[in-house]
Amino acid sequence: MKILTAPQIREADRQTIAEENIPSAALMERAANTFTDWFTGKFPDNGQSILVCCGPGNNGGDGLAIARMLHALHYSVTVWIVSPEKKFSPDFLTNQERLPTAIPVINIKQAADIPATLGSDLVIDGLFGTGLSRPVSGIFAEVINYLNNLPVVKIAIDVPSGLYTEQPNQPEDAIVQAQYTLSFEVPKLAFLLPQNEKFVGEWHLVSINLSPDYLQEVKTNKYIISREQVTGLLKPRRKFSHKGTYGHALLLAGSYGKMGAAALAAQACLRSGVGLLSVHCPKVGYVVLQTAVPEAMTLPDTEETHLTQLPDLNIYQAIGIGPGLGKESATRNLVRQLLSTTPAPLVIDADALNIIAEENLQANLPAHSILTPHPKEFERLAGPAANDYHRLELLQEFCRNYQCYVVLKGGHTCIGTPAGELYFNITGNPGMATGGTGDVLTGIITALVAQKYSPLDACCLGVYIHGLAGDLARNQIGAISLIASDLIENLGAAFGQLSQ
Ligand code: ACO
Repeated sequence: MKILTAPQIREADRQTIAEENIPSAALMERAANTFTDWFTGKFPDNGQSILVCCGPGNNGGDGLAIARMLHALHYSVTVWIVSPEKKFSPDFLTNQERLPTAIPVINIKQAADIPATLGSDLVIDGLFGTGLSRPVSGIFAEVINYLNNLPVVKIAIDVPSGLYTEQPNQPEDAIVQAQYTLSFEVPKLAFLLPQNEKFVGEWHLVSINLSPDYLQEVKTNKYIISREQVTGLLKPRRKFSHKGTYGHALLLAGSYGKMGAAALAAQACLRSGVGLLSVHCPKVGYVVLQTAVPEAMTLPDTEETHLTQLPDLNIYQAIGIGPGLGKESATRNLVRQLLSTTPAPLVIDADALNIIAEENLQANLPAHSILTPHPKEFERLAGPAANDYHRLELLQEFCRNYQCYVVLKGGHTCIGTPAGELYFNITGNPGMATGGTGDVLTGIITALVAQKYSPLDACCLGVYIHGLAGDLARNQIGAISLIASDLIENLGAAFGQLSQ
């Protein structure tokens, strides 16, 4: 699914209106109807009082139409029209005329017009949408700050007012802190970034049937990984296949005290369909792995506590390195040697990434390697980011420079590609913020690469299935108690859902 910019969304509106030969107010009516349907499902009428806060543009026009529709459904609605001047968009004015006189309207031109008490239980925010062109100031900022200081649920129409959709705001900017954002047709980049969480809240997307031709043709380099996309990627198991059909993966993992990471990666790799798995680990891990993961072959290093030597690498279709690895000097040499000699594609995680950063080995990365850092590991590799938008630029630059794929882990894990594209994941939940879930992801992606999925497909399918397994686990035991092993237990069900 494409992530579009505000000008592209405006063009999608324009083309829809032209192709369907409808007035723009009809498209606004469609958007308002769609919002109202969602709203009434989420907040059934129980006598609560709703304030619809409208700005002077089309986002305000949406708000007026929604107020009319909710009123017709017998909700108790009040409207604020916030604007210091009498300058409104034509579709705003059309909807102002359509507003039933029974709906109380308060015109707010200056701070003194803001009522002393709100008298509403819910606020629908229609001050500004994607048309925001400058920081909010004056009466608009006063209203936003007033609303943010009240303990009422706020629901933003399309975008929380004051939030830019594809560039950072300044810390002092007035932005509505919505609990919910109901957005139209395409997701906005801002929703996917941690720095905007307190403004966007829980976001949902609804379609208003914007021009399919435009949405198909419009160019972007930012996408959300959709279920349709990953379902289409999944390769069926063939009747006459055998374990050799599904690849032999090698994991280089574990050190004294961190064999659990190796075991988790190994189990996840096996649960993700690999034909054969070997794990090269320090001697201390031999019994651990043979016991915890009997399906894997264990290749013990000559050293007791950490990895020092590469095994023969020539029989593997994918090599995953990093979980529980440690950073001993012999292990550093092993990483350096692996980068220069590997005959198979690499999936690189955890301390292997830290070693690459500390030893400045970025330029030695074989083309099309997959790296799976969390933000701190990425900072060590690519330098500090001023904000989340800057981090995405660094991600694109890093992937282009080193022709690699980077899976930047987070609330919306983002995959960067050598072509400068970004793919965001929307499965997963905060329960997964617990030790070992990254090791599980390394195992999954390594298994997919061994099965000859392309690097991009392995990354997209890998992060989606990892998050889906996390969601299934959360549904069973809740987010607080979720541990990494729960993901592995739910991988089968997650793959099963995608195969249906
Ligand atoms: N302070 C004061 N005024 C500002 C500020 C600011 N910080 N930032 C922008 N404005 C002004 C703009 O100058 C603009 O006014 P202008 O057109 O006179 O220049 C106005 O506020 C823009 O406000 P918005 O309501 O955010 O933008 P727009 O009118 O473009 O509407 C829209 C945005 C279309 C509602 C978008 O959020 C959206 O797609 N919503 C959902 C779908 C929808 O409703 N689509 C159909 C609507 S019909 C149609 O738009 C043609």
